[in-house]
Amino acid sequence: MMRRAHTKGWCLIILAIIAGVQLQKNEFSVQHASEHHIYRPALQPTDTLPPIETYTLKNHVGKPCIKATMGVEYIVIENKKTWYYNLDPSRIKIGGYCGKEAAVLSLTLPDNASILELGFRKERNIFYVSNLTAHVSPLPVCQGCVNKTYSGVLTDDKLFAVADGQSFKCNSENLLLTSPELRIRLVPLQIQAFTLLKGHYGKEVECWADFTKRVIPIIIGATVVGLFLIAVTTSLFLKDRRREGYDRL
Ligand SMILES: *[C@@H]1O[C@H](CO)[C@@H](O)[C@H](O)[C@H]1NC(C)=O
Ligand SMILES: *[C@@H]1O[C@H](CO)[C@@H](O)[C@H](O)[C@H]1NC(C)=O
Ligand SMILES: *[C@@H]1O[C@H](CO)[C@@H](O)[C@H](O)[C@H]1NC(C)=O
Repeated sequence: MMRRAHTKGWCLIILAIIAGVQLQKNEFSVQHASEHHIYRPALQPTDTLPPIETYTLKNHVGKPCIKATMGVEYIVIENKKTWYYNLDPSRIKIGGYCGKEAAVLSLTLPDNASILELGFRKERNIFYVSNLTAHVSPLPVCQGCVNKTYSGVLTDDKLFAVADGQSFKCNSENLLLTSPELRIRLVPLQIQAFTLLKGHYGKEVECWADFTKRVIPIIIGATVVGLFLIAVTTSLFLKDRRREGYDRL
C-alpha cells in the first residue's frame, strides 16, 4: 500500500513537470509566431549529396502526371566563391499543372525562399524538359550583407528526352548552368511526365553518362584481356619458331 502511494506521488510530480515543459514550449512557439520569421535557406561552403525525394504532381482528377525522384542542389556563385544549398524535401510545396502537351512541376520553399520549375513538353511520342526556372533567396553569406535573390533560366531546351510512357534515369549528376550566378545540380534523377500508369515509372532509359560509366570499364577490361591473350599467343608462337630453328640446326 505504502509503495503504491509512493508511486502515485512520483507519477503526479512527473506529470506536473511534463505539463510545465509543455506550457513553456507553447509560450516559445507563440513568441516565434508573433515575430513572423521569414524562411531563408543557409548556404554551405562545402558540396554534399542532396537528400533524395519523390515528388508527384496529380491532375484535377487525382491522376499522377509528373513524377520526379531526385536530389536537388542549388550552387550559388557569389564574388567568385561557390556556395551550396541542398533542397530540403520536408519543406517543399509541390505545384504546377498537367496539360495534354505541356506540364509544369514547381517545387517551392516557404516564403518563396526557393523556386524550381520544370516545364515539360510532349511532341508525338517523345517528352522532354523544355525549360527550367530557378530562384533562391538565401541568408546573406556575410553578416550585414544585402539580401540577394539568385536566378537562372533555361529555355527552348530538350533535356531528358525519352519516349512517352518511359522514364529518364540518371545516377550521374546533371549540372544545369542556368546563369553565371546560379547552377542547379540534379543527382540522382528519375523523371517521367504525361503517361504514368497507376503512378508507376515505366521502362527506365539510362542516361548517356551512366551508360559510358558502366560500359567503359567493360571495354577497358576486354581490351586488357585481349592484349594479354595477344601477348601470350605471340610469345608462344615465337618460342615455337625459335625451337623449330634450333631443331633445324
Ligand atoms: C511566391 O511567388 C508567387 C509567384 O512567383 C506569388 O504568386 C506568391 O504570392 C509568392 N508567395 C509568397 C509567400 O511570397
Ligand atoms: C515552360 O514550359 C511550359 C510547359 O511546356 C510552358 O507552359 C511555358 O510557357 C514555358 N515557359 C517558357 C518561359 O518558355
Ligand atoms: C534580410 O532579410 C531579413 C529577413 O527578411 C531581414 O530581417 C534583414 O533585415 C534583411 N537584411 C538586409 C540587410 O536587408
